Amino acid sequence: MEVFSFVSLALFAIGSTAILVPNNYRKPWTDNENHFFGGKKWVVLVAGSDGWNNYRHQADICHAYQIIRGNGIPKENIITMMVDDIAYNPRNPTPGTIINQPNGTDVYKGVVIDYKGTDVNSTNFLKIITGDKKAMQSVGTGKVIEGGPNDKIFINFVDHGTTGILVFPEDYLYADQLNDALKTMHATASYKMVLLYIEACKAGSMFDGILRDNTDVLAVTASGPRENSYGCYCRSQSGPYKTCLGDLFSVTWMENLDATVFDSSAKKRTVFNDFKEVRTNVTESNVMVYGDFKTGHEKLSTFIGYNNHKEHSPAKPKMTKTIDSKITVSGIDALEDSVQEQLANHELPVSERHRLSTELRRNNEMRLIIDRALRKIYSMVAKARPEIMSKVGNFDKPNHLDLSLDMFPCYRSILNKITESCFSLPRNPYALDRLTIFANMCVVDKHIHLMVEKFVGASCSNIPKLHSILNVY
Ligand SMILES: *[C@@H]1O[C@H](CO)[C@@H](O)[C@H](O)[C@H]1NC(C)=O
Ligand SMILES: *[C@@H]1O[C@H](CO)[C@@H](O)[C@H](O)[C@H]1NC(C)=O
Ligand SMILES: *[C@@H]1O[C@H](CO)[C@@H](O)[C@H](O)[C@H]1NC(C)=O
Repeated sequence: MEVFSFVSLALFAIGSTAILVPNNYRKPWTDNENHFFGGKKWVVLVAGSDGWNNYRHQADICHAYQIIRGNGIPKENIITMMVDDIAYNPRNPTPGTIINQPNGTDVYKGVVIDYKGTDVNSTNFLKIITGDKKAMQSVGTGKVIEGGPNDKIFINFVDHGTTGILVFPEDYLYADQLNDALKTMHATASYKMVLLYIEACKAGSMFDGILRDNTDVLAVTASGPRENSYGCYCRSQSGPYKTCLGDLFSVTWMENLDATVFDSSAKKRTVFNDFKEVRTNVTESNVMVYGDFKTGHEKLSTFIGYNNHKEHSPAKPKMTKTIDSKITVSGIDALEDSVQEQLANHELPVSERHRLSTELRRNNEMRLIIDRALRKIYSMVAKARPEIMSKVGNFDKPNHLDLSLDMFPCYRSILNKITESCFSLPRNPYALDRLTIFANMCVVDKHIHLMVEKFVGASCSNIPKLHSILNVY
């Protein structure tokens, strides 16, 4: 930090003279390149999950860290949130390393993690991006975005998600909270432009009809508002890891960049160029853009830097070849798929077969308990308010309704009540696919939570051991 400020100061002196040169040097303060007078670049990298079954999320984020560092963005300006339970996980066949591609290079080495373990939560994330240094001073490294009016911010989030929600290990980030944080950052002139790359199921629902188009914020999402996103390098491609090694959208944009490391076109590529290429290459879901399209015409390097091979960069990513046919699995099915794949192996030792079958059976039983409880709440609402059900849709087939900011207090209130009285929603990714119906109820009537919450207690009263319903996929 010390050194960095010193360098900025030195350049400031040079820059002042540049400003005195009239006319032929236009727009000195809006330089697009990696130049101190164009403002600083800030990067926030977040993997919102934990556990071996979600290996891919932390692998993507480590890979992103390597690219960003290789592009010369100083450590001080990169803030990383990841639980960090993968590299030394007992299931890791190569302890101390993480890969993001079959036989890939270690992406864990050198990653500075600012917030680990239980510090990875949505409250901290919001404080970090809004620059609440005071609140974070005794948490992790305490690093937050200290942005100014010329700064560019890149936020890359990877995890599970559902209608209007991104998941953290213990809690949810709702679209209205993210939107409020972005509004605060805009109001306090904490950025010039923000670019978000979000990989999660239904990621588009975080921004669709919500993110404004005039605040210099652009979001690129792995999927539209009603689609799953996909894990990749799964099944046989993951070899001894027995879990997907990456996510399709993340791996695609990063491998495209790795492949052009020494290519000057990488420096000129705009955000939209990148978007179009990634959208073409990701075939399982629709990669989408939301927000201020002006920002899409900026160079991608404005946000994430570029790899200038003349400079020494400690963490220069190794050129990796894209593996064209990636084995993909819908994010929501990744665990079941991995267990089925292992059970299909005839040489599996009996004890291991037994362990895996038990795991699968338990998961299916817990799914039924979750379904039964949520379905019961739905039926009680349907009985009390039959007139709204044609708008809301069926429990198994919710209608497609557009979210609006004013439905979120109702939605959040219902989901908090379920977590309190039934089972932790954030801790059970299986439930994510079932939440859209509750979002719909709140879209139709933003006061409906007052009634729904009364049904929640009744529906969950006979759930066996409250805290035993954990990690159901
Ligand atoms: C990874 O390496 C192993 C042997 O080291 C090889 O059998 C396998 O085909 C490789 N996988 C890929 C996807 O290249
Ligand atoms: C998030 O983590 C901080 C500590 O890092 C803790 O004080 C706070 O209560 C957590 N928030 C939630 C919602 O869990
Ligand atoms: C990825 O997209 C580029 C340009 O849009 C195209 O040339 C290339 O063939 C695509 N690759 C794959 C694997 O689809």
